[in-house]
Amino acid sequence: MKRILVTGGAGFIGSAFVRWQLKHYPDVHIVNLDKLTYAGNQENVADVDAARHTFIQGDIADREVMLQAMEGCDAVVNFAAETHVDRSIAGATEFLRTNVDGVYNLAECAKETGLSRVLFVSTDEVYGSIAEGSFTETSPLTPRNPYSAAKAGGELVGMSYFHTFDLPVIITRGSNTYGPYQYPEKVLPLFTTNAIDDEPLPLYKGGEHNVRDWLYVDDHASGIDCALRNGVPGEVYNVAGGNERENIELTRKILALTGKDESLIKWVPDRPGHDRRYSISADKLKALGWQPAMPWEQGMEETVQWYQENETWWRKIKSGEFRAYYEKQYATLKG
Ligand code: NAD
Ligand code: DAU
Repeated sequence: MKRILVTGGAGFIGSAFVRWQLKHYPDVHIVNLDKLTYAGNQENVADVDAARHTFIQGDIADREVMLQAMEGCDAVVNFAAETHVDRSIAGATEFLRTNVDGVYNLAECAKETGLSRVLFVSTDEVYGSIAEGSFTETSPLTPRNPYSAAKAGGELVGMSYFHTFDLPVIITRGSNTYGPYQYPEKVLPLFTTNAIDDEPLPLYKGGEHNVRDWLYVDDHASGIDCALRNGVPGEVYNVAGGNERENIELTRKILALTGKDESLIKWVPDRPGHDRRYSISADKLKALGWQPAMPWEQGMEETVQWYQENETWWRKIKSGEFRAYYEKQYATLKG
């Protein structure tokens, strides 16, 4: 593959994927199309080789822009999405527009351009919650919040283009991802940056024993790359971190790594419909040669250290649009 269109490549995982491609494939050129929503940030790709990276500000739901961006590309990998569950509970319009309509437009455009691979990045949340054991790629989809329902809808539309039009579609479903450059609305960067500032860590009361499976961002990028290059069109591949942790354990780890104590924990009302546990098996992707490389302890140490050393990156975000969102979302923190 010589030229890959990455959509949503100015976000958290998309930017890691762009860096991964440029680092591991010296001949590859990346066309990075991103709408630059509140979560998109060109600083996330500021350090990449500009000669091998073309940035386009655009919307995956825009037909003309997408057709133009696809010209000369071998593949498209879609990261573009509205991604925060709590925002989808507050209002899901943009989630349906991008995660379903946007994906539909992308598939339509891809059908006209003869790409050799069309990879849709999806999430383990489409399976819903599981009390014991782990979901496999053949498990039914039972998403339980507007974000995951929209992601499932997009997936189904995308895969229908494989069955109906022979579009070479591959889908990946990743678990909770952590690492540098994550927008600080998500629990790990939110709690880390709050702890650095001695601000309360708003833990959802009743959800402290809920479990997420943590996947280091570069391992997510390498998993998607493995599915893209070694995967079979029409197939779905889970990408799992293999690090299941309760939220309370994650919170304590962040407090320990930032040298703060548990008095910073503040209980706030639980997320409606809060999924209890996510767990997926990545055996199918591992059979293609993928393995996560980052051990949990090291990943957490390096990630917390990154936020400690890159305050200018997140302080700029936290002083902008984020402020109004935070005050509304966590109104009960004021007492
Ligand atoms: P993010 O919110 O950090 O980034 C999303 C990016 O998409 C932003 O740069 C944003 O500007 C862009 N975008 C949004 N709407 C767009 C549109 N209409 N057109 C073009 N660009 C648009 O998200 P992330 O955490 O990096 O997630 C990337 C993908 O991975 C998403 O599809 C998400 O569903 C999936 N995923 C995320 C996780 C996780 O834990 N973060 C886990 C599994 C799967
Ligand atoms: O599983 C993959 C998914 O992981 C991705 O598809 C989503 O895009 C991504 O946002 C993430 O979803 P979660 O809802 O699991 O992530 P979040 O960081 O929002 O929350 C993780 C856990 O922490 C969850 O159980 C809720 C809890 N939490 C979260 C926040 C933001 C709190 O207790 N307090 C908080 O303030």
